[in-house]
Amino acid sequence: MSSNNETLHAWAGVANGKPLVQMDLPLKKWDENSVEIRVTHCGICGSDDHMLSESWGPTHYPICVGHEIVGEVTKVGANVTNLKVGDRAGIGAQSGSCHECKNCLEGNENICHNMVLTYGSQWPCGTWTSGGYADKWRGDYRFAFKVPDNLSSQIAATFFCAGITTYAPLRRTEVGKGSIVGVMGIGGLGHYGVLWAKAMGAKVVGMSHNDKKHDVALELGCDDYINTSNPQDMARYKNTLTHILCTGTSPDFQWAPYFALLVVNGNFINVSAPSWNFPELNPMLLLKNQIFIHGSAIGSPEEIEEMLAFAEKNNVKPWIDVYPMKDVNKVLDDFRAGKPRFRYVLEN
Ligand SMILES: NC(=O)c1ccc[n+]([C@@H]2O[C@H](COP(=O)([O-])OP(=O)(O)OC[C@H]3O[C@@H](n4cnc5c(N)ncnc54)[C@H](OP(=O)(O)O)[C@@H]3O)[C@@H](O)[C@H]2O)c1
Ligand SMILES: [Zn+2]
Ligand SMILES: [Zn+2]
Repeated sequence: MSSNNETLHAWAGVANGKPLVQMDLPLKKWDENSVEIRVTHCGICGSDDHMLSESWGPTHYPICVGHEIVGEVTKVGANVTNLKVGDRAGIGAQSGSCHECKNCLEGNENICHNMVLTYGSQWPCGTWTSGGYADKWRGDYRFAFKVPDNLSSQIAATFFCAGITTYAPLRRTEVGKGSIVGVMGIGGLGHYGVLWAKAMGAKVVGMSHNDKKHDVALELGCDDYINTSNPQDMARYKNTLTHILCTGTSPDFQWAPYFALLVVNGNFINVSAPSWNFPELNPMLLLKNQIFIHGSAIGSPEEIEEMLAFAEKNNVKPWIDVYPMKDVNKVLDDFRAGKPRFRYVLEN
């Protein structure tokens, strides 16, 4: 447990390649917009690993990652309207925003110009943000969401990053009956992509970089499966997909074989955030295929509320395995080895 009221007790990364260790870190300065929770669950996202291993650039250590957080509300500031002590709250990859920039004012807080990410960012008070591999989280109530009563906390946690990151762009690009959606990379994000697209009425094709997930992808609900390393398998879907949701690529990814699968005016939606750049894009490829390329980052508070209601109505539930928080280092090793089917959740 935390040693005092202004600290949290974290499993923190201290250097690239080193196991996480337990230590106290400061909470943000309390204000009347603050909510504090006792963390009960936190999912493991690919972004946690990127930050711990500095694959996006230098990380400010020590860092407490984890942004699929659920817990019990223990304290609320006077301005908090959506939560009370004893409620269950969920928090995703964003813990605050400026509420003043154009994006915030237009309801796109998820791409705020002064974003406060749940870890690896600084609060206006200067404190570095800390995520859910910990006993407590403290942040802004506008990024803490009431967990619906019909969702257990362990099931709810992963909606707040993997869930919303895939739900938002599929809705924005109007996936529905008649859509044929290829989901590239069937991991934490990708498996949600499959579940959402099916619930929206689409036909779904799982696209994985080898044959290993064939059976489990069909069990998950995919109507068909493509091994993207096999050109003959890819050829079966030439000019067929209305959408590709890209959640993972290899470093030698090329645009052309994927554009070839899309229908005219098809959508290539990237949500993956690899440590490498995508290759140069020949403009003729875009012209000749008449393609829309989209990018998407998590989702706005409004989209998160909409997603929770959609999940409840359509009974969308992630596939998770739950492990004790104290085993986090072993669980992270398994995550890095690509073992989850399809998301790991840590439990305090
Ligand atoms: N846009 C956002 O706001 C946002 C939010 C959260 C996460 N992300 C990013 O999204 C990405 C996925 O996160 P995640 O949590 O879903 O990770 P994950 O569970 O590890 O899934 C990544 C998937 O990438 C595929 N992959 C792995 N190695 C590959 C290779 N050599 N070649 C081709 N595909 C390979 C795998 O799918 P197959 O084995 O099926 O090929 C794997 O399941 C990460 O980069 C993460 O940082 C972005
Ligand atoms: Zn994430
Ligand atoms: Zn803003």
